[in-house]
Amino acid sequence: MRTDIHQQAILIVDFGSQTTQLIARRVREAGVYSQIHAWDRLDNLNAGPENEPENGPDYRRFAGIILSGGPESATAGNAPPVPAALFAAGLPVLGICYGMQAMARQFGGTVQAANSGEFGHAQVKIEADSPLFTDLADHIEQQNRLLDVWMSHGDRVTQLPPGFHLLASTAACPIAGMEDPARRFYGLQFHPEVTHSRQGARIIQQFVREICGCPPRWTPANIIDQSIAQIRAQVGSERVLLALSGGVDSSVTAALLERAIGDQLQCVFVDNGLLRKAEAEQVMAMFADQRGLNVRHVNAADEFLARLKGITDPEAKRKIIGQTFIEIFEREATRIAGLNWLAQGTIYPDVIESAGAASNKAHLIKSHHNVGGLPAHMQLKLLEPLSELFKDEVRQIGLELGLPPDRIYRHPFPGPGLGVRILGEVRQTYADLLREADAIFIAELQAADLYQKVSQAFAVFLPVKSVGVVGDGRRYEYVIALRAVETSDFMTAHWAQLPYDFLEQVSRRIINEIPGISRVVYDISSKPPATIEWE
Ligand code: XMP
Repeated sequence: MRTDIHQQAILIVDFGSQTTQLIARRVREAGVYSQIHAWDRLDNLNAGPENEPENGPDYRRFAGIILSGGPESATAGNAPPVPAALFAAGLPVLGICYGMQAMARQFGGTVQAANSGEFGHAQVKIEADSPLFTDLADHIEQQNRLLDVWMSHGDRVTQLPPGFHLLASTAACPIAGMEDPARRFYGLQFHPEVTHSRQGARIIQQFVREICGCPPRWTPANIIDQSIAQIRAQVGSERVLLALSGGVDSSVTAALLERAIGDQLQCVFVDNGLLRKAEAEQVMAMFADQRGLNVRHVNAADEFLARLKGITDPEAKRKIIGQTFIEIFEREATRIAGLNWLAQGTIYPDVIESAGAASNKAHLIKSHHNVGGLPAHMQLKLLEPLSELFKDEVRQIGLELGLPPDRIYRHPFPGPGLGVRILGEVRQTYADLLREADAIFIAELQAADLYQKVSQAFAVFLPVKSVGVVGDGRRYEYVIALRAVETSDFMTAHWAQLPYDFLEQVSRRIINEIPGISRVVYDISSKPPATIEWE
């Protein structure tokens, strides 16, 4: 019988912490499925037809609950509450930071604002044996077990609620962990979900595996198995269309659908003339040639460039590129007989962000860059086989499905492509020069083993001319800017401190090998205030 990977899942109640998604990822890395729901939208848990809304959220679907941290003060009158029914469900509950404070307050403990907060590294002393801490210690001093952890709090619990005992302490925070073993309620003031907490992943693993009793079922092979069964059940013998961009999400969607429904999948790959060097050939080789996938390669470069002629405003360019893509895609779709489904590479963070946007929360929202979907009149049903997965899980699945690692671990590439990396008006000649420069930069990064050390790297075309000398001749040509950043979430980023001799090598090659370029500069702006892309 197939393993049900969704059985015995962990509910994560989000109080608005920046690290809620990390909690969900750590739970999944422990092999257990997790779902994030905002504290004020727990009614969504009622989705099942058998649930009467008046019965309240159905917590018993889960094997355990984690309460996230959050920006609110647990001492404030309007602090987000934890529903009493959640604690009454008989499930193990782990409160982290705000989650611990809310739990303490709810059960009669005291929470106070401290004079000074605690932010960054700390060492906690384990005060009592607990299944959370079995066999864990970073240091042992005078027979005390110590853990290196990450703290980020102003408030703290100053008096334990009845029934709880002390689990951990720091000098600045005498109650840094608490436990009520009878009810299986646990609180941690520090953040086990961040990697700076060295044993954090193991603490979360002990909670979900030992305390909640969840077996490790959430593995790439099981996820693929179950997704395939689900796709087949959903789609039956109908046909599915997918816009294949060659990016990780659409590539993994294609590989998964191919495995599930084979020939019923039709992909469309639109070359907008703003792709990187050899991109179209590589994508076609990977999917159509090697895997025999149905891919229609539409070369629409002329159409895109014609529509972009004379347009200099970045947002106007984005709109034109997005709109043109939709029109072409729609045109292609109507040629395919008996089409019923549109597949999209939506991933879990997109789903969480949309839910957050719907509930009007400011945190976690990153503007969506994805192509805006198809017009409603096409009336296709939507198939989103990756919508439960985080990006790193999508990558794991891609590898398991046999996609090449260098495609799976590529830097992100924006939907409008080189269109936002050619400043001002987009011209074919500019795009051709930029493609060459970008290819040199990326090849050199790979050769120097630096490609995976930066999060995103690319060249930008500046349509201004600058003087240079090559041999005895004077040159008056264009400028290329190199951009490389380090970031974990693309919302903030540092410019990458690439070695000078490396930059020199890239600059020399670009100027020597590309006649239309006379100067190369390196972008040393971080985000904020600059953005990663130049437009
Ligand atoms: P910015 O420039 O906003 O970029 O700091 C953050 C991340 O988003 C990518 N990006 C885009 N992706 N369509 C996309 O699909 C876009 O219009 C777009 N603009 C920026 C950018 O490459 C970086 O990874």
